[in-house]
Amino acid sequence: MNIPIEKCYGQGYDGGKNVQGEKIDFMNIPETLRFATATAAFQVEGAWNESDKGESVWDDFVHSKPERIVDGSTADEACDSYHLYKRDVEMLVELGVDYYRFSIAWTRLLPTGFPNKISVDGANYYNNLINELIKNNIKPIVTINHWDIPNVFQKIGGWTNVLLVDYFGDYARVVFELFGDRVKEWVTFNEPQIMCLFGYGEQVGIHGLAPDMQFNGIGEYLCLHNVLKAHAKAYHLYNDTFKPTQKGKLGTATYTSWGEPETDSVDDKENAEKFMHFMTGWYSHPIYSKDGDYPPIMRKIINKRSEIQGFKMSRLPAFTTEEIKYIKGTFDYMGINYYTGGVADTSRFNQTKVPSFENDMGFTSRQKVEWEKLIITWIRIYPEGFRKVINWMVKQYGNHEIYILENGFASERGINDDRRIKCYTNYLKSLLEAISDGCNVTLYTAWSLMDNFEWRSGYLNRMGLFEVDFNSPNKTRVPRKSASFYKELIKSRKLKINL
Ligand code: BGC
Repeated sequence: MNIPIEKCYGQGYDGGKNVQGEKIDFMNIPETLRFATATAAFQVEGAWNESDKGESVWDDFVHSKPERIVDGSTADEACDSYHLYKRDVEMLVELGVDYYRFSIAWTRLLPTGFPNKISVDGANYYNNLINELIKNNIKPIVTINHWDIPNVFQKIGGWTNVLLVDYFGDYARVVFELFGDRVKEWVTFNEPQIMCLFGYGEQVGIHGLAPDMQFNGIGEYLCLHNVLKAHAKAYHLYNDTFKPTQKGKLGTATYTSWGEPETDSVDDKENAEKFMHFMTGWYSHPIYSKDGDYPPIMRKIINKRSEIQGFKMSRLPAFTTEEIKYIKGTFDYMGINYYTGGVADTSRFNQTKVPSFENDMGFTSRQKVEWEKLIITWIRIYPEGFRKVINWMVKQYGNHEIYILENGFASERGINDDRRIKCYTNYLKSLLEAISDGCNVTLYTAWSLMDNFEWRSGYLNRMGLFEVDFNSPNKTRVPRKSASFYKELIKSRKLKINL
């Protein structure tokens, strides 16, 4: 599909510079591309101990290590979406989105972590939210787990313990049984690479995440290994038992970051490709590739390094042939989250941090100074990388249907967010170019519907189309300029590109 750049006369769009009658360039948005926005339970719900809700690893992290959150805040109240979900749906209606992606808090539904107790209030909350969405013609996309697992599982090592595969399967069954009659789009996990790397392995900068295990070079690999099995378990359960009647789709949200070669040298190109396989392929390859299993380059390097380091077995765990088959092909779409890119930096690379993921990769990742800097330290804007990442996924794994499940911009407070509009425009242009390249992208999700608890950055940086006043009793939500931009984009189905 070719999406040419055309010209039209401005319609008085109030979010950017275009005024009535000014000639502007635009790209038409294909009918096949639908629009969404997203949140995650821990980041918005609040009501952390209301009714019989159990404690999650994140509840524990913010309460026991407040110094690890940049502004010392907690998500105890967050946006209070637990009580204000109707207002959230009003905002979605205002935007005119087709879908809302949100996640279920495992411990709100299953306070003990196990299906021996299903919370009536928890189930009611999600039923009410889903019903309110459907009443307003917005389709739910439900993430089964967005990082906040029951804290009780830390007693047995969290995701490093293979038992969690079955525990997750039991939880997913409850979720499908309760909500699958109305939810037709499922996301098993959100960015397991990030959760495993920064929750079980390295603790760098803003990235330190719960449960803060710091089991470098081992914990992150065990974690992801079990998450992959748990994802596959949920896929097969859904596919065999629920899909025949519920007829939905199930996939997962892969973290992606574009690996940009620093120069055209062979070494730089090789490092960039290695970066793609370590950061993205680690989770994607076992699920989407024809052969399954981890990317061969990871297998080769980590096996070798483990041996040199005196380990009796590879720190990258092995799958059995049955497991490889069981995990391979467990998707109905390829889910991608994209924010930024990275270049391989061998100069800053700390050889002594052994064993570690970074040490295995052989370099540290750095963002180019020419990429636009944001308040949040891990994101520098590189819109062109979006098109490249999408094409890379297609080239590696085939031209499957693609859902963009997250993409967005972090700013300070304030509703005049022209920079966010410019950034969304450039991201979307890159996305439309990927569609022109032939990639089958059918969903775009803007992160986030509203400002929320941004993990270790607390409330310092804002990612919402709506600004939230966290000091007001009803967590007042006000649309930013970018909300008008998104609304206009969805309504007109035109992306104006000379803002
Ligand atoms: C996570 C979101 C987070 C966003 C911005 C993504 O990696 O899925 O929960 O808010 O990044 O940091």
